[in-house]
Amino acid sequence: QLKNRVCIIGSGNWGSAIAKIVGRNAARLPNFEDRVPMWVYEELIDGKKLTDIINETHENIKYLPGHKLPDNVGFDIAEGGGIDLISHIITRCLKIPCAVLMGANIASEVADEKFCETTIGCRDVMLAPMMRDIIQTEYFRVVVVDDEDAVEICGALKNIVAVGAGFVDGLGFGDNTKAAVIRLGLMEMIKFVDVFYPGSKLSTFFESCGVADLVTTCYGGRNRRVAEAFVKTGRSIKELEDEMLNGQKLQGPITAEEVNFMLANKNMENKFPLFTAVYRICRGELKPSDFIDCIRSHPEHM
Ligand code: 13P
Repeated sequence: QLKNRVCIIGSGNWGSAIAKIVGRNAARLPNFEDRVPMWVYEELIDGKKLTDIINETHENIKYLPGHKLPDNVGFDIAEGGGIDLISHIITRCLKIPCAVLMGANIASEVADEKFCETTIGCRDVMLAPMMRDIIQTEYFRVVVVDDEDAVEICGALKNIVAVGAGFVDGLGFGDNTKAAVIRLGLMEMIKFVDVFYPGSKLSTFFESCGVADLVTTCYGGRNRRVAEAFVKTGRSIKELEDEMLNGQKLQGPITAEEVNFMLANKNMENKFPLFTAVYRICRGELKPSDFIDCIRSHPEHM
């Protein structure tokens, strides 16, 4: 019987956390090859190649320190940098089907093996059980849904809401305010999917990739943390990202820009005041203290 081969592309915080799970499952399951190659964006740590360090110590000392990766994960070098391809680019360029995984999954907690759930969006019913098997563990529970696009979009849009959550934390508002930001953000996520990806299901927003990921990211994520510091220090997002994240990147401000481009094209910025306010504040067009005024008369309140 031909065995399935798995590889991991990317070795950041999340790539390393999921390598622990996938490596163990590949070694355990009879229908998968043992060896799981991992493609690492090469960089020098104190003059030594990250790939050499990981191969020698089986630990990604930069992005997931303190966690040993399974022995069957070997490491190769990806020429030219880290790749962050979204599912349709992968399918278009490689002509392969692409499922997505999104969930309330802060990487360090997953690596610590703290119980959590995740969502896999996979349209192909034949592929779905295999996707679940290579990912699921006792502590990492998987629900597979066929609403691939909505799962992926939830994972991107929640980053914008988390920046908003960081703003209200930085401004000194309380839990009620943050709950309002989370709820209004969720409503904008649902509306965005309805406008740009019609046919998606409302039930997807109640999976881990929806409301649960939104909650964890708005409380425990990097976007929230940097946005709070942005308000408190008045320094630029780029500066804070470089200083606070040790080489990791923030998704929220970039996603806010992409989303704004789409909204502006359809003349719909005023229907998405939270997404729009986050975008304008990140660009310096509005002050963080304007944030609440932007969402005070939200269409949800009319
Ligand atoms: P951050 O990228 O803001 O850390 O969000 C964490 C996350 O995506 C949890 O699923």
